[in-house]
Amino acid sequence: MKHCFSLLLLALALFGVLPAAQAQTTQYTFSQDIAPLVYNHCTRCHRTGEVAPFPLTTYAEVVSHAQTIKYVTGTRYMPPWKPDPNYRHYLDENTLTDAEIAKIRDWVDGGTPQGNPALIPAVPAYPSGSQLGTPDMVIPMAQAFTHLGNGQDMYRIFVLPVNMPADRDIAAIEFRAGNKSIVHHVIIGMDTTQQAQALDAAAPGYGYTQFGGFGFNPVETNFAAWVPGMQARFYPTGMGKKLYRHSSLLVQVHYGPNYVTQTDSSVVNVFFARQPVTRYIQTLPAISPVTLTNGPFIIPANQISTFHAQIVVPFEATMLSIAPHAHFLSKGWKVWAVKPNGDTIRLVKINDWDFRWQGIYRFTSLQRIPAGSRLMADATYDNTAQNPRNPNSPPQTVQWGESTTAEMLLTYFDVLPYRAGDENIVLSTVPGVATTPGTVQMAVFPNPTSATTTINFQMERASPVTVSLLDGTGRLVRAVVRSKAYPAGPQQLPLPLTGVAPGIYIVRLESNEGTRNEKLVVAE
Ligand code: HEC
Repeated sequence: MKHCFSLLLLALALFGVLPAAQAQTTQYTFSQDIAPLVYNHCTRCHRTGEVAPFPLTTYAEVVSHAQTIKYVTGTRYMPPWKPDPNYRHYLDENTLTDAEIAKIRDWVDGGTPQGNPALIPAVPAYPSGSQLGTPDMVIPMAQAFTHLGNGQDMYRIFVLPVNMPADRDIAAIEFRAGNKSIVHHVIIGMDTTQQAQALDAAAPGYGYTQFGGFGFNPVETNFAAWVPGMQARFYPTGMGKKLYRHSSLLVQVHYGPNYVTQTDSSVVNVFFARQPVTRYIQTLPAISPVTLTNGPFIIPANQISTFHAQIVVPFEATMLSIAPHAHFLSKGWKVWAVKPNGDTIRLVKINDWDFRWQGIYRFTSLQRIPAGSRLMADATYDNTAQNPRNPNSPPQTVQWGESTTAEMLLTYFDVLPYRAGDENIVLSTVPGVATTPGTVQMAVFPNPTSATTTINFQMERASPVTVSLLDGTGRLVRAVVRSKAYPAGPQQLPLPLTGVAPGIYIVRLESNEGTRNEKLVVAE
């Protein structure tokens, strides 16, 4: 009899009856499965006053958009992260895994159950001011700009004069949108002439309208950039950019279409370098039409064209970030380097380029590019009527230019000459440092360092914290704090390194909200 019963079980299992019964007991709920995903990946934009068109901060709000959420996560339209995560990872990456997308789908198909409301995590607290601390200099827009509610995009350049007694080395530039519901993306240049002032004076109103670039070639065309959800960062210690004393920051703001006339006054925060900058980061548009192997850069109408670029890197380089740039015909990018020994270094792959979501993609650790490597790019443009973003109807032959109806093919790289050990400089081991509900965040800065560093951490709730400095093999070098109670919110913990030998270490932080490990390079 017992034997028969197990046969029956086996038959049931084979015919899939048991797994189905099991699936019912593991039904996903908002409180335990969906809210953590939404609060981690969506609410940084989907909350009141932010760029997204509706908030996703409560069960009712999420349920009222459930079918669209299932659709836009399934197509990977949301969250708007363009680089292919199967090709390469970056700092502050915001993507859903296949399993998470399936979870959302199953929850919507299962009738969007709420579960136990008491288990819904708190919506993360978002800092309202600077994400980096107190800026040394705040450069505001001189006037509020009025963006008409006419349903049109606006690309407006504001000239922000910099007046300082001397040139300064900067460790970070942070753009802070004034009216986040209309500011869609921002590119910041730097000019040392008065050409931008002349363009501003010639145009009616505050600022001047210009789509692709700045209307001329300033000394820095990509000094900094911002898209919603992007976090400003300090450059590694000893690295920085120079801000000239009588220069101007050129802030190109893309205001999204809106049907209510609104104003914006945004600001740029400047952080000066605390430690001497000995290595200046250059932003080079190394991939451009002059590097094409199948140029010229002319995109015939009614055709999909792929251009191939190739350029030899003439020096041993360290790369911090990559930023491809094109307009509305662009479909996708693949950029990589081939080392002299034939190995490939993947740099970026974008399968569905979207002008509105272009970003600067920062590597999680510095990338060494050997001298003599070939930098390669494939860039595809869809100049057919099937491309819904095609600005020309019917399609026209398109060439290089700054206007919305012209195209660009550029990839900017933040680079500097390589120095031994650069590849060990980890910018963060925690992708998407911002806002995981109920999860401790940690950043160690400066890193690398010699004398001292600071551990910045933040928890949702008060918790005892243990911080340890471990060596590369995981052995305890120093107990920084042991089970010390800390409140919720941002904390700074200095970590003096006197007596610690140069090398690579791990800073480990343990709390009720999880453990974080960050690599720390102690230099001589
Ligand atoms: C970086 C900011 C940002 C993040 C993060 C983000 N969204 Fe959005 N979302 C937007 C913006 C802006 C729009 C308006 C459409 C557009 O501009 O592409 C939008 C539109 C939508 C829409 C409406 C789409 C339509 O066509 O009607 C849905 C649904 C949506 N988002 C869901 C999500 C979900 C779910 C997540 C998280 C998994 C998410 N979004 C993450 C900014 C964001």
